[in-house]
Amino acid sequence: FSREGSLADVPKDLLGEIKKLEQHLSIDTKKLKEITNHFVAELEKGLTVEGGSIPMNPTWVMEYPDGYETGTYLALDMGGTNLRVCEITLTDTKSEFDIIQSKYRMPEELKTGESEELWDYIADCLQQFLDTHHGDLAPGTMIPLGFTFSYPATQNYIDEGTLQRWTKGFDIDGVEGHNIVPMLESALKAKDVPIRVSAVINDTTGTLIASAYTDPTVKIGCIFGTGCNAAYMENCGSIPKLAHLNLPADCPMAINCEWGAFDNEHVILPRTPYDIIIDKDSPRPGQQAFEKMIAGLYLGEIFRLIMVDLHDNKDIHIFEGQDIKKLRKAYTLDASFLSAIEDDPFENLQETADLFSDKLGIATTRPELELIRRAAELIGTRAARLSACGVAAICKKKNFQPCHVGADGSVFNKYPHFKARGAQALREILDWPVKKNAKEEDPVEILAAEDGSGVGAALIAALTLKRVQAGNV
Ligand code: GLC
Repeated sequence: FSREGSLADVPKDLLGEIKKLEQHLSIDTKKLKEITNHFVAELEKGLTVEGGSIPMNPTWVMEYPDGYETGTYLALDMGGTNLRVCEITLTDTKSEFDIIQSKYRMPEELKTGESEELWDYIADCLQQFLDTHHGDLAPGTMIPLGFTFSYPATQNYIDEGTLQRWTKGFDIDGVEGHNIVPMLESALKAKDVPIRVSAVINDTTGTLIASAYTDPTVKIGCIFGTGCNAAYMENCGSIPKLAHLNLPADCPMAINCEWGAFDNEHVILPRTPYDIIIDKDSPRPGQQAFEKMIAGLYLGEIFRLIMVDLHDNKDIHIFEGQDIKKLRKAYTLDASFLSAIEDDPFENLQETADLFSDKLGIATTRPELELIRRAAELIGTRAARLSACGVAAICKKKNFQPCHVGADGSVFNKYPHFKARGAQALREILDWPVKKNAKEEDPVEILAAEDGSGVGAALIAALTLKRVQAGNV
């Protein structure tokens, strides 16, 4: 996907900087394999009583759907960017469903505001949704809600979740270390909204269950979006930290890996000075080391830091003599800016030039445009290749080949070449022979998932209800 040929006219000093970026950001097969092997060990460690850097949270989702679940469920999705409320009806026809939904923007100031404001805002959205889509309810009716809360949470039961720590740039006081369910429920009660939380769900677990609903060969659910994470089904007998509960050894338990925390101790990932700055300036330094190198929230920021560095500190001084005030603002560029650069179809990179002048007020030269494009390619490729290490690690640990992986998130769905680059890295890590033809499937295929936070949440609510009715855990 690169433009090697276009670098012929780039002056030597600038080419030198491109080569340095290539050295810093490229990850060869040998390193990918090393990272994957370390990842397998860390997945194991996270399941022990002592634990490791990856939380490996049991989710109390203890079976796959069979496609015959029915009923109408309310679901709330609090992701990194939007808030979504949906009502899902699982129909009598196998693996079919209807959905109505409303999206609300998560106001930026809420992410670092006060806890009460957050729950109040969510309760308002739920109230609005019921006002629009529901008639009068019989007095005393409480509607059960599947709450997709996509942050690391400790769960002793499916209808509770104690936030371990905020991720994805959130920093709201008074929530970490607390069960989020009573907080939301008291905001709902204060507004007389007749909803009770029946399940707390991670987006990856929702993705796993929703994808397995329509494709039973799906064994892993992944999110490559604002954050990055995965879930898979473990056997209780392989989860030493649950041994005290005496659950049957072959009883399944979905594990929300929270693999964004992989290598928090900084022993294996090849971090660049830019990754170190991102971490230092984030609300939770030392956390989410893996996620900070690959998730959508950070890709544009890595690129911005490189550009500022090449302007200020290197001999070449890109954008010489120009005011780069806009570029200096942290998090001013998101992953869609990088996507647009990689998507620029013009030989002369005209769209990239327009982006820089419109959004940042910076005029670019042709060689600078080549450097910009190469930097974007390197950042996007690194993200895809590192993500593949996580997928390969779960496959190795669980002997999951062949299988399908259900994936969702803005980076997976929209970032150019992300899928192909990830597939290529998987091929290198897991030593697959070259495909005979384009139609042939790889032993592990990462495919676009069903809607995890909507349909997945509804299915988990249905499975939970079934389990409660059967008198099981
Ligand atoms: C972050 C969250 C995790 C979530 C992921 C994708 O890593 O900690 O819970 O699954 O983002 O949204």
